Amino acid sequence: MADNYLGKKMEDLESGRLAKGRKAGLKTKSAAGAKAAGKAKNSLDNLLLKNRSCRGYDSSYKVTLKELEQIIDVNRLIPSSRNQQVLRFKPLIGEQAAEFTKYIKLGGALPELNLPFPGTEPNAYIIICSIAKPNRWTDVDLGISAQSMLLKAVDMGLNGICIGAFNKERATEIVNNSQKQGQKPKKEASAQSGYASAEALDGYEPLMVLAIGKSIEKFQLLPIDESENHNYFRENNIHYIPKVKKLIIE
Ligand SMILES: Cc1cc2nc3c(=O)[nH]c(=O)nc-3n(C[C@H](O)[C@H](O)[C@H](O)COP(=O)(O)O)c2cc1C
Repeated sequence: MADNYLGKKMEDLESGRLAKGRKAGLKTKSAAGAKAAGKAKNSLDNLLLKNRSCRGYDSSYKVTLKELEQIIDVNRLIPSSRNQQVLRFKPLIGEQAAEFTKYIKLGGALPELNLPFPGTEPNAYIIICSIAKPNRWTDVDLGISAQSMLLKAVDMGLNGICIGAFNKERATEIVNNSQKQGQKPKKEASAQSGYASAEALDGYEPLMVLAIGKSIEKFQLLPIDESENHNYFRENNIHYIPKVKKLIIE
């Protein structure tokens, strides 16, 4: 028996109490799920449900630099390996964000759609960089940081997506060339600040990009067995995301 909200929802779906058939997944667009469970609007479960990877945005909503800074601020509150806090963040809005869109790839599992659809492109990005040579622990920090920022975005009424498929060369140019003289991390200075000199970098190394904006997409989670296809798909304008039901090792 699941002892948490999402687990119970999945069980309800499985037993057909909420809906019938494979497509009767868990709607994430509204707060209906959380209301049904009597949860506060922004309970963690509800934030997690609404935190779907979004590939279509409302172009009339222009994300501001202040909003991106608020999202980036969560990084002052999260765990970090050896507390080295090697991640740095470059917010992009306006023309700079519009130009960057051609350097990202969305919806690799749905190549025929060529996402994002014209007019629904993100208008804000955060390039997540490291000031130390990336290693396993940097990657763990990266995951914690990315998910924390996405949850903050949802908490603010926005949405986002992790983007691993981006042009690293272009991102490197942006984060290193846009620096005011003297602000770019220097290998020697970084080496003195705590981590081994072999790990220090001259400049910033982009690891991942987040897109941020107001979602126009409809999502539905789909509980699956681990042997079933994990690929997300779209039907009738709904983006279905299969999620494995059984995770606990017995
Ligand atoms: C590390 C990481 C990298 C990702 N890179 C991309 C990407 O380059 N393009 C994309 O469209 N989605 C990307 N995604 C989003 C995943 O496709 C998405 O998380 C998955 O389909 C599940 O959907 P959900 O996030 O709504 O649960 C990435 C997700 C993660 C965690």
